[in-house]
Amino acid sequence: MISADCVVAGCRQLLTGRGPVPKRKEALRDLGVVENGWIASERGTIVFVGTESGFRTSVRLAEGAEWIDASGMVACPGFVDCHTHLPFAGEREEEFHLRLQGWTYQELAARGMGILTTVRATRAAGREELRALCLRRLDEMLLTGTTTVEAKSGYGLNVDDEIKQLEVLRDLAPLHPVEVVPTFMGAHEIPPEYRAHREEYIHLLIDTLIPEVRRRNLAEFFDVFCEPGVFSLEETAMLVRAAKAAGFRIKIHAEEFAALGGAGLAADAGAVSAEHLMTISEESIAKLAASGTAAICLPGVSFFLMMDKRAPARKLIDAGAVVALATDFNPGSSMLDSMLFVLQLGVYTLGMGIEEVVNACTANAAYAIDRHSRVGTLEPGKAMDLLLMDIPDYVSLVYRLGPNPVRHVLKNGKIVVRDGRRAVASR
Ligand code: NIG
Ligand code: FE
Repeated sequence: MISADCVVAGCRQLLTGRGPVPKRKEALRDLGVVENGWIASERGTIVFVGTESGFRTSVRLAEGAEWIDASGMVACPGFVDCHTHLPFAGEREEEFHLRLQGWTYQELAARGMGILTTVRATRAAGREELRALCLRRLDEMLLTGTTTVEAKSGYGLNVDDEIKQLEVLRDLAPLHPVEVVPTFMGAHEIPPEYRAHREEYIHLLIDTLIPEVRRRNLAEFFDVFCEPGVFSLEETAMLVRAAKAAGFRIKIHAEEFAALGGAGLAADAGAVSAEHLMTISEESIAKLAASGTAAICLPGVSFFLMMDKRAPARKLIDAGAVVALATDFNPGSSMLDSMLFVLQLGVYTLGMGIEEVVNACTANAAYAIDRHSRVGTLEPGKAMDLLLMDIPDYVSLVYRLGPNPVRHVLKNGKIVVRDGRRAVASR
C-alpha cells in the first residue's frame, strides 16, 4: 500500500495534463481528464492519481491526513505564470490616462516615461516596501490559482538596485507559498544616466552585473529586451553570450513591437524561451518550431495596450512550437495578475482551444521556466499543486467570464486557499 497524508476525493473532472512535456501540436489538446478522479500526496508529492476503486485498493491514509471532498468540482494543476515583472514599486495610472488620450506606449517611453518611471520608483523603494508589495501581489495571484511565478528584475538598472530586487525575490521563499523563480533582467532598458553613452551600460552589464548576480546566485535566467531603441540584435547577442558564459539560462523579450530577430537568436542560442512575439516573422516561427525554445505569448499586452497586433499563437502551435501563456504582469504594458484572465484571452483573442490554453498555462509554462519535472501536471512524483474550482465542466473556465471559480488551492500538498480565502498552511 502507498501511504498518503493528503487526499482530494471525487473530483467531477481531474485535469491531469499527464504525458510528456513540453506539449506540441495535438498533444497540447489533451488534458488527460479523469472523470470522478481521486488524487493523493505524501509530504507534498503526488503518490496516486486515478479513480476511487484504485485509491481504495492501493492507498493507506496516514494518521491525521487531510481529506478534501471535491465532489462537484473541477481540479487542475496550479497555474504557472512564466513571465512577470513582479518586484516593482509605483504604478502608472498617469501614463495609462495619457494612452487613453492617444499617446502610444512607445511614444511615452521615448519621452522618459514608461519603464523609466518605474525605475525611479523602484530605486527609491526600500526593501521592506518592495517585499510587502510582492507579498500582496502573490496573495492576489494565488487566489486566482497561480502557484508558481517567474519574476524578472529590471527596474533597478544599477548594481545596488538590481541586487535589491533579486534579494527581495529570494527572501519571499519562507514568507509565501507561491514559488518564485527569479530572472535577472538588468538588460530591460538603458538607464537615464547612461543614455548619452549606452555602450558603457552594456559594459557594466557584461563586466559587473552579470558576474555579480551569478556570484551571488540570485537568478537562474537572464533576460534582455531586444527592441529598437532598447537593445539591438547585435547588443542582445553580445549580452546573451556573456550571460551564457557566466552560467545563466537565456530568455529573450523578442519581437514585441518590432521584428528584430530576437526569436531566431533565442532558438539559435538554445534559449529556454522567446517571449512576447507579437511581430514575429514566418521564418522565426519555423525556427522556434524546430527548436526546444518555448514561445511565450502574452495576450494581456495586446489587450492592455489596445493593439490589434497579437502574438500568432495559432500559427506557432500549428507549426509545432512549444506555446506557453503568461500575464507579463507589469505596471506599463500589462497590469494583469490573473492567469484565469490569460486563459480566457488565449481563447477569445489568440484563437486557441480551451484544452490548449490550460496546457499552455500549466505544463508548457512550467517547461518555459524549467520546472516541468516538478510542477505543471498532476502525476505521481510531481508536486501536489492543485486547484479546485466550483464549475460544472472545465469549459466553464473560459465560458463563464467574471467570477473567480477557484475555491481551494493546494501548494505542495498544503491548503493555502480555502473557500476562496488565503489560508495559513494547516500543517
Ligand atoms: O514586458 N517589454 C518590456 N518590458 C515590459 C514592460 C515594462 C514596463 O512598461 O514597465 C513588457 O512589456
Ligand atoms: Fe515582459
